[in-house]
Amino acid sequence: MEQRTLGTQGLEVSAIGLGCMGMSDFYGTAEERDQNEAIATIDRAAELGVTMLDTADMYGPFTNEELIGKALTGRRDQYIVATKFGFERQSDGSQTVNGRPEHVRRACDASLQRLDIDVIDLYYQHRLDRRVPIEETVGAMAELVQAGKVRYLGLSEAGPATIRRAHAVHPISAVQSEYSLFSRDVEESVLPAMRELGIGFVAYSPLGRGILTGAIGSDTLASSDTRRSRFPRFAEGNLDANVAVASRIGDIAAERGVTAAQLALAWLLQRGPDIVPIPGTKRRDRLEENAGAVDIALDAGDLSRLEDVTSPENVRGDRHWDVGAIDR
Ligand SMILES: NC(=O)c1ccc[n+]([C@@H]2O[C@H](COP(=O)([O-])OP(=O)(O)OC[C@H]3O[C@@H](n4cnc5c(N)ncnc54)[C@H](OP(=O)(O)O)[C@@H]3O)[C@@H](O)[C@H]2O)c1
Repeated sequence: MEQRTLGTQGLEVSAIGLGCMGMSDFYGTAEERDQNEAIATIDRAAELGVTMLDTADMYGPFTNEELIGKALTGRRDQYIVATKFGFERQSDGSQTVNGRPEHVRRACDASLQRLDIDVIDLYYQHRLDRRVPIEETVGAMAELVQAGKVRYLGLSEAGPATIRRAHAVHPISAVQSEYSLFSRDVEESVLPAMRELGIGFVAYSPLGRGILTGAIGSDTLASSDTRRSRFPRFAEGNLDANVAVASRIGDIAAERGVTAAQLALAWLLQRGPDIVPIPGTKRRDRLEENAGAVDIALDAGDLSRLEDVTSPENVRGDRHWDVGAIDR
């Protein structure tokens, strides 16, 4: 598996990581999430060289980190473990953001315990807390590095001004935001700022939360999948148009003898050597399929066809239900 370096501090990771969120939360129902298959998927990832695991304390909440802790038993040294703090989920289903230094310290200790490891390789602030100056939050994160609890720092869904202020306190190795053929807004100002500062980019939801693979349609989106259907791309009136775009991507993929998921990931990998997609799956066969994207080279013709098909007028709906809350 190709390796990529995130940031100038030299965090080496596999060119494709494994998003673990869906193993415990968000998509489908608890019954559909086979924990044995999830652990087998994490095991298989190491065999394939897919070494970066992505989780967060809020996935579950907490159970995704516990699952990863279980999977890491006896093989900690084979993985780069990335987790996040910042969202606090309330009993009524809502979530709040907490970037206060005392929360950063408490959350890190709790994540280390659940993951059952001594050090987190990459620790992200999940969302900006607008009530707390970023310097205070990153100051507390930097203390975790000094204490040996964390190796590298990251931010998720941060805008360019926040990234610059954070990076001035302590080097930031990676920014993680949504990026895919369906969601390209980071190209406008986030990616240029990161490239100027020498920060790596981790692309979440690189498969458009599943739509880009062609595996989801209005006839197959389960009524139980209520969290996914909250995202505007999956809403009635948008989903069919987006599925039609995915089907055209599927046609291009078929001509190339690859799958739509592989094509979507190969496109991202080709956007720059500083980009690392973390497709999410809880199944070994899909992990294997997705990992195959590193061997696909797209030519100028493929790229221009993909860009035509996914032009903004063809893709319907905002990328997030809470788009106004995202730092820009
Ligand atoms: N920082 C943030 O705020 C944030 C937000 C969202 C996600 N993330 C991270 O990013 C990771 C990836 O994002 P994501 O899971 O939201 O979206 P994604 O990777 O775009 O898509 C995941 C969905 O696609 C399906 N899938 C994966 N590979 C497939 C294939 N080859 N063929 C058909 N279907 C396939 C998965 O189903 P199965 O699992 O059933 O295979 C799952 O439903 C997450 O796991 C999480 O770690 C971070």
